[in-house]
Amino acid sequence: MINVALPKGRLGDQVYKLFATAGFPCPAVEEDNRKLIFENQQAGVRYFWVKPSDVAIYVERGAADIGVAGKDILLEYTPDVYELLDLNIGKCRMAVAAQKDFRDNTDRTLRVATKFKNIVREYYGNRGRAIDIIKLNGSIELAPILNLSDVIVDIVETGTTLKENNLEAIETVIPLSARLIANKASFQFKSSRIERLCSQMKAQCPPLEKGACTYDSDFNI
Ligand code: PRP
Repeated sequence: MINVALPKGRLGDQVYKLFATAGFPCPAVEEDNRKLIFENQQAGVRYFWVKPSDVAIYVERGAADIGVAGKDILLEYTPDVYELLDLNIGKCRMAVAAQKDFRDNTDRTLRVATKFKNIVREYYGNRGRAIDIIKLNGSIELAPILNLSDVIVDIVETGTTLKENNLEAIETVIPLSARLIANKASFQFKSSRIERLCSQMKAQCPPLEKGACTYDSDFNI
């Protein structure tokens, strides 16, 4: 069996469909119920639905052999896993956003609200900008509106949340997408099966755009 941690929520259905079309279907996954574990013995696969930010923890500790995690989580928590493949789905970006009339006063420490404090620290550290990080767990867009922060660093997908709260993106920190990751020991012991799965998945992913940058160093975060 290959144990797979799937991210519950927006991305989960797309991710499961990729596995299914790659030859690892498990129809029970798509049933409308509250079960969290599903297996298809014939296909040799067992799926778990987990909170997206927890996928890397399951994989790092070997509770799952492989999983799908956003690049944001991999950059923020740097789990000790192999990143096997850019699935080129769940595409969005991490951006700095602020109220429309915001002007940065570089004489003052910039107050930044975010869920991603490590990414933010590195991003502004590389720019030599003094910041005060305000760690929040959700609804980040509220922070500049209530003057809790000057800017936010958060994920922007459609841009609707920013727009509906009168905020605008002012810088892109890094483009993001979903990545296939593997536990390091599993990758040794189940190498042929995981490599086969990986190449079958690769054949099903939307192709990466010509010249797409997939290396973090290209973005100097
Ligand atoms: C994420 C992110 C933004 C929103 C962006 O929030 O933090 O708030 O999605 O998406 P959009 O550009 O398509 O509007 P999520 O839905 O994960 O909820 P959260 O507030 O708990 O972070």
